Amino acid sequence: MPGADRIEPALERVMREAAPLWKDGKVADYIPQLGGVRADQFGLAICCADGRRFETGGSRTAFSIQSISKLFALAMLVRTVGEEAWQMIGRAGTHAGFNSLGWLENENGRPFNPFVNAGALVVTDKLMQRMAQALIGLLQFIRDAAGDQEIDVDFSVSDSERASCDRNAAIAHLLRNYGSIQGSVDALLDTYCQQCAIAMSPFNLATAGLIFANDGCDFLGRRILESNTANRINALLSVAGMYDAAGEFAFRVGLPAKSGVGGGILAIAPGKMAICVWSPPLDAQGNSVAGLRALEILSEELGCRFFRPGGRGGPRRVWRRAAA
Ligand code: DON
Repeated sequence: MPGADRIEPALERVMREAAPLWKDGKVADYIPQLGGVRADQFGLAICCADGRRFETGGSRTAFSIQSISKLFALAMLVRTVGEEAWQMIGRAGTHAGFNSLGWLENENGRPFNPFVNAGALVVTDKLMQRMAQALIGLLQFIRDAAGDQEIDVDFSVSDSERASCDRNAAIAHLLRNYGSIQGSVDALLDTYCQQCAIAMSPFNLATAGLIFANDGCDFLGRRILESNTANRINALLSVAGMYDAAGEFAFRVGLPAKSGVGGGILAIAPGKMAICVWSPPLDAQGNSVAGLRALEILSEELGCRFFRPGGRGGPRRVWRRAAA
């Protein structure tokens, strides 16, 4: 686990080199309320498996978590229905934009994975079929994981998305036509837009994200998910959490992660830490430009990317070929 002597200088480098890159992106405006967010904001927080926390910039500023909510909805579904959850949606990468719908017909209404909009709509429908108040249940799950009971939905954002969500409505109708969702499309869209509009700070999200980095246990050491569930979710995040940019992200950063069009990225370094970075301007794939660079710097400085068993020092063990 990297010490403060490494993490603090790494955060200084992030503020110097990554934070100014907000200028290179564009704030999402297909949800009209998000289009009004100030572009020149940047915040980052780290929550380590041993309880230490580090933060810089606007780490306590609440922003719209958008698709990062899909990660917590999936975790809650697996916790609620167990193995059955994995039968409901695919485990493939994302071969189209996160809100693309043409492919859904070719796949007979079975979403690629739980993080594209189609998959997330299936997850939320399943939660709604099993719980009278799915949104309240999800909020409570997130509040407990973050240790902050004040976390809430920003209804100005959810109303704004709900009034302009024709594409998600089309996806939901197609899913219902294939029998992939059971409930009412209108009620599903209400709940989905509200879950995406949950407002949290980087500090909140890094804390809540620890359940994925800490083998299923939260920041107080309470077991929230089975170890196997946390592992499987991290595996899916590495192939699909960054949508069609997952390969590029694995190449540059090498950590399981989930992005949102609010400009947040939650990255998981299994066994070590959860990192949340936020900067609203996005690249063409819908991922935060400054956030991507910040994570690239941190994974390099802290030696926490996967496929690097010895951290900074490289591999610890040399495998010898067996003697003939
Ligand atoms: O459904 C949508 O389009 C948004 N509520 C969430 C999309 C999103 O965050 C994609 N992430 N990069």
